[in-house]
Amino acid sequence: MALFCNIIISPKPFVLSCSYQKTHLSKTPQNTKQDAIFKIKGPATLSGHITISGSKNSSLALLAATLCCSGSSLLHNVPNISDIQAMASILCSLGAKVESFDGKMMVNSDGVGKIEVDLEEMRKIRGGFFVIGPLVARFGEAVVALPGGCNIGKRPVDLHLRGLRALGAVVELRDGKVCAHTANGKGLVGGRFRLDYPSVGATETLMMAASMADGITLLSNVAKEPEVVDLARFLNDSGASIEGAGSDTLVIWGKSQLYGSECVIRPDRIEAGTFMIAAAITRSCISMSPVIPSRVSCLIDKLSEAGCKISQVDQHTLRVSAVPALYPGGDDLKSFGIKTSPFPGFPTDLQPQIMALLTTCTGSSLVEESVFDNRMSHIITCLLPSSMKSALSIISFSLLLWIARELQKLGARIQVNGNSAIVFGKDKGSSLCGSRVIARDLRGGASLILAGLAAKGTTEIHKIEHIERGYENIVTKLQNLGADIERLTPPSLSSLL
Ligand code: UD1
Repeated sequence: MALFCNIIISPKPFVLSCSYQKTHLSKTPQNTKQDAIFKIKGPATLSGHITISGSKNSSLALLAATLCCSGSSLLHNVPNISDIQAMASILCSLGAKVESFDGKMMVNSDGVGKIEVDLEEMRKIRGGFFVIGPLVARFGEAVVALPGGCNIGKRPVDLHLRGLRALGAVVELRDGKVCAHTANGKGLVGGRFRLDYPSVGATETLMMAASMADGITLLSNVAKEPEVVDLARFLNDSGASIEGAGSDTLVIWGKSQLYGSECVIRPDRIEAGTFMIAAAITRSCISMSPVIPSRVSCLIDKLSEAGCKISQVDQHTLRVSAVPALYPGGDDLKSFGIKTSPFPGFPTDLQPQIMALLTTCTGSSLVEESVFDNRMSHIITCLLPSSMKSALSIISFSLLLWIARELQKLGARIQVNGNSAIVFGKDKGSSLCGSRVIARDLRGGASLILAGLAAKGTTEIHKIEHIERGYENIVTKLQNLGADIERLTPPSLSSLL
């Protein structure tokens, strides 16, 4: 029996409810994640092999792209994580049918009857904003709340909107919502647009919109990230005509109709990178597959510079070893600097994890953030008690400062200055010790897991819902590598009190 609509995250296969009701979400295990914690006993030594899940960001873009397609689209290797649940929930709320089973997702958007994405849905996930392109292109109209998602600064969407205008859409901001429609009932028309900055999201929005516009579109200074290449491949398989994905210019010949196709989601390069850093920070040796080495080459270079041995076992398997650092008389891992930048530069989504690693290397290092200005000077209101929120509408807060502060609880020494940080390695007396820490965003949360694995004693990580947005089965994967990590849910927590 085919069951459609609202998806509930659960061990594979996914469990689906028969009809979409928002109230069902509050009954899912999702809610209990609010209170669950990770408990890690370190220091860990890891060994063995792990399987890398499908890419979260590619899956999100492809799920949005299914709205462009007539008939059904079938995606394989979709990770079972809450961001995907949130995106599926947005598609369902618009009237699409979503079926999910055994890591696959089948989407049919022929029945889409609504063009407005609820504010509540949008608050859960920034990637939800990507539906604006397909909705305007295929259905002529979209109303989308301004995006939510990871707590990394203001994250404007001006490039998405200016690009849509260049394709003939009328775009207005009303009551915190973006209202877009095609002019005079006509569809989008091909045009030229240069992005001021190679934004991944804006490139994806415009690629989807231009695929169904009338005529040829030329997009320049676009993002070259692998997820853009994955999206272009899916759209082309669905009947689009996109050239140049992976370079800084895209030429798109618009088609009046696209048809659902089948696609295997490529491995998540950020998950692979996180596990590579896990091997380094624990001075262990692990292997992983599938990995596309060219997508993590920048990290391979940096870890090699530190002294890790990284070998390609076969086309899609990498082995990362930091074991020589443990040999008597062997050199420990050395510090190195990073500056984040668009692909093929060092990914911003691995910056916090690298910072955790650097606290365990010899020497001091400079970490510079250049992709998200606000990843380091961040606006967070959710941290404030409600009494203060009314007095102060916003407070400037550095996310980098927050990560530094949480790592400091574990004994790290980090000095933050604007968009950069100096990390003092262990020759300055920093060696990590377990403590109670709080995750406040996805990648910062991952860095706390890594630090907890390296730290002596017990580390408790709270607010793990941020981490579970983007890492599939992270506890089981680490346990299989030999880590002493548990996910404690409220009943087990209360028994500890
Ligand atoms: C995507 C990824 C995220 C990753 C980021 C950068 C998804 C779902 N998320 O986010 O994990 O960290 O790429 O690799 O794929 N900007 C503007 N105007 C815009 C859009 C972006 O100024 O209209 C700026 C942002 O403020 C930021 C920079 O461009 O400083 C990069 O953002 P962008 O590449 O758009 O990131 P996302 O697509 O949101």
